[in-house]
Amino acid sequence: MKNLTADELREMYLKFFESKGHKIIPGASVIPENDPTVLFTTAGMHPLVPYLMGAMEHPAGTRLTDVQKCVRTGDIDEVGDAAHLTFFEMLGNWSLNDYFKKEAIGWSFEFLTQHLGFDPAKLNVTVFAGEEGIPADEEAVEIWKSVGIPEERIFRLPREDNWWGPAGTTGPCGPDTEMFIDTGKPKCSDQCRPGCHCGKYIEIWNDVFMQYNKNAEGKFEPLGRHNVDTGMGVERTVCMLSGAPTVYDTEIFAPIMAKIDELSGETDVDAETKLRARRIVADHMRTATFILCDPKGGVKPGNVGANYVLRRLIRRAIRYSRMLGIAPGFTVKLAETICEKYQNVYPELGINLAQCKLDLEAEENRFNQTLDKGEAMFNKVAEQLKLHNQTQISGKTAFKLYDTFGFPFEMTLEMAEKAGLSVDKEGFEEANRKHQELSRTTSAGSFKAGLQDNSEVVTRMHTATHLLHAALHKVLGPTANQKGSNITPERLRFDFTWPEKMTDEQLKATEDLVNGWIRDAIPVTKKMTTVEAAKAEGAMALFGAKYGDQVSMYTIGDVSKEICSGPHVANTSELKSFKIQKEQSSSAGVRRIKAVIGNLT
Ligand code: SER
Repeated sequence: MKNLTADELREMYLKFFESKGHKIIPGASVIPENDPTVLFTTAGMHPLVPYLMGAMEHPAGTRLTDVQKCVRTGDIDEVGDAAHLTFFEMLGNWSLNDYFKKEAIGWSFEFLTQHLGFDPAKLNVTVFAGEEGIPADEEAVEIWKSVGIPEERIFRLPREDNWWGPAGTTGPCGPDTEMFIDTGKPKCSDQCRPGCHCGKYIEIWNDVFMQYNKNAEGKFEPLGRHNVDTGMGVERTVCMLSGAPTVYDTEIFAPIMAKIDELSGETDVDAETKLRARRIVADHMRTATFILCDPKGGVKPGNVGANYVLRRLIRRAIRYSRMLGIAPGFTVKLAETICEKYQNVYPELGINLAQCKLDLEAEENRFNQTLDKGEAMFNKVAEQLKLHNQTQISGKTAFKLYDTFGFPFEMTLEMAEKAGLSVDKEGFEEANRKHQELSRTTSAGSFKAGLQDNSEVVTRMHTATHLLHAALHKVLGPTANQKGSNITPERLRFDFTWPEKMTDEQLKATEDLVNGWIRDAIPVTKKMTTVEAAKAEGAMALFGAKYGDQVSMYTIGDVSKEICSGPHVANTSELKSFKIQKEQSSSAGVRRIKAVIGNLT
């Protein structure tokens, strides 16, 4: 095996697929563009969904390779063991209706064995066993046999193991074949096989054959295209190649762990808890730093959606840092170390570090204040109990500390132990469950409301955004430039530079222009070109955005020309009508418009 650094692995992978006719494309933001169905980019395929669906051609062609930053926080409570991470990088190669199983499997095998040096005798693979209406993937079995994997190392497994996607609720998906390295450990039982979590088999790569689409009714329909989506985790692969016992023991985490150790002090916490706390702090701070430095921006610690996930990561890191005796102010120091490690590959970690530090500092201060207040409240509760000769904190009180004062339950447990009190854990969990049921019902309601074919509504909103941008240029002049855009199925939101509140007349003129263009039924056309050529034609581009060699340029008659990855409707008449709902300040010198479009019946 080759002991590679993450930098070497990325380069080797991209070059290998470049040699097989793939174009290297830049990875996307971890904050999804125009996709309200997920909070973060969770897989490499995510930013490529429109191309996998065949809704449009990718400017770089039909064979692509990239490294994608991914955030997955579904297993946040598992972080701290040897393998779970909330942020990871995924290497991928893509066929957009180009090559299929034979090439994908052949190249995976070649790269693993000839370039990374894994012993073919240790390679085990799984394939889809089939189910009603969808056949077993015997084709993949035959291909694996043809490269030399014997039948006994090919495992046919059900959907639970060997089906990938869609990333959100609907979209491209399909059977996959997963590759596992046998670590040589004994089987944990007779049932032990790839996919078992005992540590004998470690998954290294996943080739997905995206031939299906999951539709809004939850049915799998043939996509009419044969795509390939593969994903190989950088952290895990570096770990296996180096023989390190966990991802935290690789060169990737080395400077982060060293910094944590340098900042740590004396505590009376046991060694095992400390080991876990160290990993949690490292993982959560790495994820938070990538989110805060993301070029798309816009996610800040807060109480809903992606903002809440970010807050939770930072606050959890702070809580665990206390177990290591780390003094306040550490989040900023760790962010510096993380940015230094990664900025040669992800320049945004250099460019946006200053802002990231401000955000971390503010959140750390806020949470420390919450903890101080919570501790004061706890002490009052403890005093009252003692006065009444009681020794148990009720579940209701513990939940109130958590829910009203933001005081983490674990801290209540820790402080109770020190004060010689017990806590009614069941009572707390009961109160928590009731609360969660209530919020689930509420969010399920709003989720459903947003589902009436998201992709179509979002596409129409996207075209409306271009028209709005063009109208603002006409009404306010060329300095009214796009600063940000966010689309949900309910509304579009557009931020632009403008120093003052727009007048009612200006708003009406803007709305009228857009509605006029919708009535004119103007065709929307797309052309592939270079950034320079597009700009020479007068296309608008986002200041500071990074574009590849080839870009798509969308033209709406003589109204609008923008460099943009789409998708868009074919004709402005599809928007039906346009209405501005709100114009307000976004930040100094930036205004924000929220608008809606007419319903399609
Ligand atoms: N989409 C698949 C995964 O995330 C392969 O890239 O595992």
